[in-house]
Amino acid sequence: MKVLIHQTRETATECVAGLIVDRIARDPDVVLGLATGGTMEAVYDDLIARYRATGVSFAQAQSFNLDEYIGLTPDHPCSYWAYMREKFFHHVDFMPGRTHLPRGDAADPVVEAARYEAAIVAAGDIGLQLLGLGANGHIGFNEPTSSLSSLTRIKTLTQSTRDANARYFTSDDDVPRLAITMGIGTIMRAQDIVLLAFGANKSRIVAQMIEGPVSAACPASILQMHRNVTVVLDEEAASALALRDYYELVHPRVAAPAS
Ligand code: PGA
Repeated sequence: MKVLIHQTRETATECVAGLIVDRIARDPDVVLGLATGGTMEAVYDDLIARYRATGVSFAQAQSFNLDEYIGLTPDHPCSYWAYMREKFFHHVDFMPGRTHLPRGDAADPVVEAARYEAAIVAAGDIGLQLLGLGANGHIGFNEPTSSLSSLTRIKTLTQSTRDANARYFTSDDDVPRLAITMGIGTIMRAQDIVLLAFGANKSRIVAQMIEGPVSAACPASILQMHRNVTVVLDEEAASALALRDYYELVHPRVAAPAS
């Protein structure tokens, strides 16, 4: 694992956007794995700014999002379809039909999950997967105790995840209880993975993910088994790492950028 500790959220965000843009420059038809959540909003803002300023193009790329709530149509304002349209897709040049999310309103979510998994396989799997980190260690909606080799399927959300996401809904009861999510096995097939986490409330789980045992109790800890993972953190999210000095020794320019 490459652990990059930035002094601020802003430089951490720029770092992640830069990794995505560099990948597109090398590999224009890359299959991107995309994420939602509060942490990612600044990444999409940065990518939109680079698209406008530098003309980086998503026209040959395609994307698969990690997850979607069951029961919400793509038009529902709280759906991840709506999030992605508003915060990213409408502002850049992806070709129609090349941005994919599971359909939360599918008549049979089990069939939809299998279809989505097969579509990812048919696309050649994810080239660069972007991940956030749940305060409970989830990646996608793979909640604690998820099978570490799971494929895209239906998951029941934990109460802590529903509480964390209630801010997007009118009332707590409106937060869906089920989601379709890429599995941990699906995510682990990605060629490269970039995980971004900010803030003191993520510090404990960041330390478990990087330095704890590989365990379904912290699904993100499986990333220790992946060959090409970059974890991008701000100072607060890095604050519980036991080996922080070592990570900063390996990547000193991140820790203390030249002034
Ligand atoms: P957040 O969500 O970016 O809103 O903290 C991360 C996640 O749950 O994966």
